[in-house]
Amino acid sequence: MQALGIDIGGSGIKGAPVNTKTGKLLEERVRIPTPKGAKPKAVAEVVAEIAHSLKWKGPIGVGFPAPIKNGVALMAANVSEKWVGLNADELLTSATGCPCKVGNDADVAGMAEMQFGAGKGQHGTVIMLTLGTGIGSAIYYNGHLVPNTEFGHLQMNGMDAEHRASDAARQLKEMSWKKYAKRLNEYLNEMEKLFWPDLFIIGGGISKYHEKYLPLLTLQAKIVPAQFKNEAGIVGAALYSQGMDVKV
Ligand code: BGC
Repeated sequence: MQALGIDIGGSGIKGAPVNTKTGKLLEERVRIPTPKGAKPKAVAEVVAEIAHSLKWKGPIGVGFPAPIKNGVALMAANVSEKWVGLNADELLTSATGCPCKVGNDADVAGMAEMQFGAGKGQHGTVIMLTLGTGIGSAIYYNGHLVPNTEFGHLQMNGMDAEHRASDAARQLKEMSWKKYAKRLNEYLNEMEKLFWPDLFIIGGGISKYHEKYLPLLTLQAKIVPAQFKNEAGIVGAALYSQGMDVKV
């Protein structure tokens, strides 16, 4: 089975065809910068451009940075407010001419890791956190997703955790790895106190520098980098176009 996976992020929109039986990309990914303001029409045009450039005809799964119910965005933290209440499945299906299924970006990235990556075969509670422009979260229990958790918006020191501990916050404040690890540790300790997961998986572009900060964390749960690194979003989106649960 094949599906096109598209990952809509704060800075780039990326896509590639994926073999959903193996989780492997079938072609080099295409990346186009996210249009300024990330408004629906402009984003839909970029998604269509990616599908067109790959000559894609078939199912498309899309990871989007907002909670999504039945294709409709419920909130917008890092994209235009115009998405709220809009049926993203319908918008992207009509823009591309292919059946599109949109889900939360972290939920779908978690799906790739649970099926083929760092969470493969893991029973119990797994929390995947994507550290990028914001902080995305996905909780899997015995392979079943609890969709649309928004733990990047957990309040810490009077502000959203994602404004303190995302990769964008690290870059904006030019934090040293030591300082960033301290902040991330505060956040992860809070998450641990609330959920007692068996495993944390850290995704997003920053996962490739994991040696710089994961060893500095003090958690009881095991914590590992995402195996798909920044490609979890593309692979997971493709899987998402074909159903929700993962076999563990
Ligand atoms: C959004 C989440 C998203 C995360 C990562 C947050 O600001 O509210 O839905 O998963 O950013 O993109």
